[in-house]
Amino acid sequence: MNPIKICVLAGDGVGPEITAEALKTLQSVCRTRSIPLDLTEGLIGGCAIDAEGIPLSPATVEKCRMSGAVLLGAVGGPQWDCQPANLRPEAGLLAIRNKLGLFANLRPARVFPALQNASPLKNEIIARGVDLLVVRELTGGIYFGEKGQTEVDGNPSAYDKMLYSEYEVERIAKVAFEAAQKRRGKVTCVDKANVLETSRLWRRVVDRVRERYPEVELNYLYVDNAAMQLLRDPSQFDVLLTENMFGDILSDESAMLAGSIGMLPSASTGHGTLGLYEPIHGSAPDIAGKGIVNPLATILSVAMMLRYSFSLEEEACAVEQAVEESLAFGRTPDLADPAYPAKSTQEIGDFVAARAAEILA
Ligand code: NAD
Ligand code: IPM
Ligand code: MN
Repeated sequence: MNPIKICVLAGDGVGPEITAEALKTLQSVCRTRSIPLDLTEGLIGGCAIDAEGIPLSPATVEKCRMSGAVLLGAVGGPQWDCQPANLRPEAGLLAIRNKLGLFANLRPARVFPALQNASPLKNEIIARGVDLLVVRELTGGIYFGEKGQTEVDGNPSAYDKMLYSEYEVERIAKVAFEAAQKRRGKVTCVDKANVLETSRLWRRVVDRVRERYPEVELNYLYVDNAAMQLLRDPSQFDVLLTENMFGDILSDESAMLAGSIGMLPSASTGHGTLGLYEPIHGSAPDIAGKGIVNPLATILSVAMMLRYSFSLEEEACAVEQAVEESLAFGRTPDLADPAYPAKSTQEIGDFVAARAAEILA
């Protein structure tokens, strides 16, 4: 078998801790299945600023381009928060997504039965079932529009322009409809079409794309209502299709259905074959270096990588099963429950790596 070639961008804060645990599982799966694994590492974010003066160097981009997939930890931290915008760690993350053309960000949120009590929402709401997929546009909108500081009537002011082309909306809409075809056949497009011109363009394009997927049900929700509905009755949702910033916010909200932001993985893809996999959470500076960060979102991102980038479905399922079983073995503090032993990041990582290998042996 050809080696699977991964570029690892650990990043800042908890990034090195979570990628180390995810790599344990990846290595254990590859060893068990005799899949050659070729790993390289690259710098991104604050650590790249410290080492190279910029948050993303051409060398890192090239390493990613030469790989079959990218595993990313997280970027950012208070020590870089006063940097100018283009020299912040976050600029490196936006740039890698943009340079690799990764316009589609898939953020699934489902509730493992063992975590039914972990959400702060009422159990009767969670018990109705949560299995949704946020399809977030990742390389357009307000994140990438012209921005700047200016003066209005003598007042220091700032602006961020939100711009979407029909082409950008069409390609992400297709991703959402195709995902829905393989799931429960329902797309909810989330926007602010009562106010924003970009949202009205989204609706026109999404209506048009939908004609090619007549069996998929489509409805629209304003983002404020969607935020409320996610807490009131999350089981109504299958695929949530939305623009960059709304998708960012709604996916963090969805994490609390699953019990912790430490449980949500993501996959970013484009027109090519290269995919980038990362947890949806950030560098969690408040808990970095303490050995308590939940590594499961990153390990579940490895499962998504095995499935989408390498078509290793059985291996992906084994990782997901091992993650699920780890919830009975023990938990990091974000999922603390007196009924289960408290475990460190490393102990959880060791358990999942070993268990995934057992399942596949
Ligand atoms: P965050 O996601 O890093 O943390 C939010 C809260 O959730 C914190 O209390 C943190 O301890 C907790 N948390 C996050 N992940 C966890 C995990 N796996 N296990 C247990 N607890 C976890 O968001 P923030 O605090 O708003 O941002 C911190 C830094 O991360 C900022 O610099 C921000 O720009 C950056 N950030 C990066 C990414 C990314 O790299 N993809 C995503 C979001 C935020
Ligand atoms: C995420 C993060 C990033 C985003 C930031 C750090 C640029 O919040 O990956 O969700 O907003 O996309
Ligand atoms: Mn985010």
